[in-house]
Amino acid sequence: MYVYAYVVAVALTCLAAANPTTTPAAIAQVQVIEQIESFLDNPHYLSNEEIGELFARLNKDYPTLAQPYVVGTTIEGRPMHALALNAPTPEGSTGDLLRPMVKLVANVQGDETLGRQIVLYMAEYLANSYEIDNEVQRLLNTTEIHFLPSANPDGFALAKVSHPSQTSFCYR
Ligand SMILES: *[C@@H]1O[C@H](CO)[C@@H](O)[C@H](O)[C@H]1NC(C)=O
Repeated sequence: MYVYAYVVAVALTCLAAANPTTTPAAIAQVQVIEQIESFLDNPHYLSNEEIGELFARLNKDYPTLAQPYVVGTTIEGRPMHALALNAPTPEGSTGDLLRPMVKLVANVQGDETLGRQIVLYMAEYLANSYEIDNEVQRLLNTTEIHFLPSANPDGFALAKVSHPSQTSFCYR
């Protein structure tokens, strides 16, 4: 069954690649994807402070959707920024107590920074896409997603200090 689905997917991909005429709908789709990934124009690893600023901005742009909060403070006094994404229940409804919750946690090891940035991009992508993407809308209508991009902001800061000659991190 899976193999069959895979073969069909490959066949469709080949057909699409072989067909040079792109439909207007496909063009519109590509433009939407470019638009909501504009945050990739200047990619860099956000500092802990910038994470706080990003979450505050998402809350300002999408007040009903994005709720920033702080999980706690590290030994070195850094706030551990988190964000909840969750579409409000329809007006008049009593709420959805059974809505499943998921939490994505990254950067547990301070110098393992890739997951940290991916979690941030994902939060930003979902928040930016809610109004324009049906799939994202359905996801956030039915699931409460929490993001903790860095479980170890002190370790992240230390990783940078331990590579002072580098303008960026030794990523892994
Ligand atoms: C998401 O919820 C809103 C508000 O209840 C509703 O208007 C919208 O149609 C829902 N979207 C999807 C894709 O289910």
